Amino acid sequence: MARTPFWLKLVSVTASAPEPILVAESVRKVYRSGGEEVVALHGLDLTVPHGELLAVMGPSGSGKTTLLNCVSGLDEIDAGRVLVDGLSIHELSDKERTNHRAREMGFIFQAFNLIPVFTITENVELPLLLAGVHERDARVCARETPTRVGLGHRLDRRPPELSG
Ligand SMILES: Nc1ncnc2c1ncn2[C@@H]1O[C@H](COP(=O)(O)OP(=O)(O)OP(=O)(O)O)[C@@H](O)[C@H]1O
Ligand SMILES: [Mg+2]
Repeated sequence: MARTPFWLKLVSVTASAPEPILVAESVRKVYRSGGEEVVALHGLDLTVPHGELLAVMGPSGSGKTTLLNCVSGLDEIDAGRVLVDGLSIHELSDKERTNHRAREMGFIFQAFNLIPVFTITENVELPLLLAGVHERDARVCARETPTRVGLGHRLDRRPPELSG
């Protein structure tokens, strides 16, 4: 029997894939400060299928951080809508959106946003506890995860004591 060409397999995976993990429709974001308006997103449309690895590139000031803040629900939008796995996140209350983010999203921030007085273990543990993970499981995960990336010997150090 002839072997199925590789690209045909890819096509069949795509055809049976669930709805996109992220859809942004006509998203508009305006910053207002001191009487001045900056339109950072002008009706942005974006569709990201499940499993896709996406890099957003552009010059400084082109709106990359704004885009990520708006599609994650960290920031409000002025028009349009954002669907994360089918859920329109800007229609949620602030509290619901925060809970959804804690459970469903992961972030690595440009400026780290770690808590400087907490150890590595405590920094990993805190968001897990906020997301409702059982204390015992959170403690195990908070020790295992840094160990997997080579920080097992520094679990009790604090962020300012580590390299980037
Ligand atoms: N809080 C804010 N208040 C007013 N204007 C802002 C604010 N944040 C961003 N902007 C403006 O919005 C536009 C997009 O900025 P943004 O930070 O999203 O760009 P960026 O692509 O992430 O840039 P960089 O590559 O430097 O990180 C810029 O014109 C910026 O000056
Ligand atoms: Mg940025």
